[in-house]
Amino acid sequence: MIKIAPSVLSADFSILRKQIILLEKGGADWIHLDIMDGHFVPNLTFGSLIIKSIRSITKLPLDAHLMAYHPERYIDDFKKAGVDLFTVHIEACVHLHRVVQRIKESGMKAGVSLNPSTPAISLREIIPSIDQILVMTVNPGFGGQKFIKSTLRKIREIAIMIESSKQNIELEVDGGVDEKNAKEIVNAGATVLIAGYSIFSKKNISIAVKNIRIAATK
Ligand code: DX5
Ligand code: ZN
Repeated sequence: MIKIAPSVLSADFSILRKQIILLEKGGADWIHLDIMDGHFVPNLTFGSLIIKSIRSITKLPLDAHLMAYHPERYIDDFKKAGVDLFTVHIEACVHLHRVVQRIKESGMKAGVSLNPSTPAISLREIIPSIDQILVMTVNPGFGGQKFIKSTLRKIREIAIMIESSKQNIELEVDGGVDEKNAKEIVNAGATVLIAGYSIFSKKNISIAVKNIRIAATK
């Protein structure tokens, strides 16, 4: 079954508890946390203190997406704060294999993310070591951007690589996902849909989560 992972990047942090409860009511599977360092991407978001508070609100798996250089600096703190899945950018890690090993040793699942311009083939050597792949379908840094359609071909290509690896690897798609494109993204091979603006811009965010699932599965 397709998983829906709302990104709290577009949440109203003054009422975060209420909003996370509403996401759960809508059937959210994971909570997606966008961690930005102001260097790898121009924007800055939050770290382990806020994650700890989010952990106290929900039991859903916390899916941290590090848009940061030197993400290995945060492995231990994020694990302690309650993160379950820790995804790093291939473009931000010189020693990617070592970083992935360290994430797994910490007890979290390890993911690797690709910017829109990074080709699928760059995953080839790391696939045997990872639990998930996150395909960016906008340039990372901000919520509410338009889905880059040409990434659909890459999603298909990666889905084939995963299938032939015979491993259990989730394929997350992140950026500009909404009710209108959910179905074609799933058809291309996504198993996890991350959505921020298309959920939090709606009046009823529970229904927004439900509607993305309906659109993705019909
Ligand atoms: C972008 C983030 C995404 C983003 C998704 O840099 O990685 O997770 O918040 O948000 P929407 O759905 O608004 O594109
Ligand atoms: Zn993200």
